[in-house]
Amino acid sequence: MSPEFNRDLKLAPSILSADFANFGAECRAIEAQGADWVHVDVMDGHFVPNLTFGPAMCAALRKHIKGVMDVHLMIAPVDPYIDAYAKAGADVITAHIEAGPHIHRTLQSIRATGAKSGLAINPGTGIDAVPGLLDLVDVVCVMTVNPGFGGQKFIHSQLNKIRALRQMIGDRPIHIEIDGGVTVETAPLCVAAGADVLVAGSAIFNGGSVDKPEVYGENMRNLRASVRTALAG
Ligand code: DX5
Ligand code: ZN
Repeated sequence: MSPEFNRDLKLAPSILSADFANFGAECRAIEAQGADWVHVDVMDGHFVPNLTFGPAMCAALRKHIKGVMDVHLMIAPVDPYIDAYAKAGADVITAHIEAGPHIHRTLQSIRATGAKSGLAINPGTGIDAVPGLLDLVDVVCVMTVNPGFGGQKFIHSQLNKIRALRQMIGDRPIHIEIDGGVTVETAPLCVAAGADVLVAGSAIFNGGSVDKPEVYGENMRNLRASVRTALAG
């Protein structure tokens, strides 16, 4: 992760939308095409109704990712697995505020590994507890879909939450990451509300492949342009 904090727009393609038989090449392709972070969605079939990657998978991916490996843990319990994902080479480890009764301890455990700590918040969860956690957080991840699957529709009511978090964070070096339903239509709304990291699965991978990686580049340029145009207007 870049040692210098900034609020420049960063795109984090979610490999949940990549070719599952070709992850190494997919990670290399999206980075070559301009991805800032690589977002890895870890699901346990319990906290969310889908199953994806264990720590061994992340360790294998690490060899193909030059930049930031952003690991989003949609698992409960989460505490027993933090060290394993840190050892697998995660730069950012994000846990859900809903994943257990001791989110403060969870964030402390993430920081103790040397990884950056992320706090994810589901659409149905408020942010009253966040001020008490800010000293332990490097990334707040606002879920703009209910987690579990790619390709869902953006939940617009979360924009108010993004605005409130942006105010709450003030000058602290904390990223606001948006996860779910990010498209050329919704990306500008998120950035205008205060986000600086946009996770996108379908909007980046759709239409491309490792044999047609230029489509990933085009999709990412379109997302960046949608934000620039909206902010300029
Ligand atoms: C949802 C995941 C997201 C998802 C985003 O549970 O956390 O990262 O893959 O996919 P899109 O961009 O297709 O909504
Ligand atoms: Zn995610």
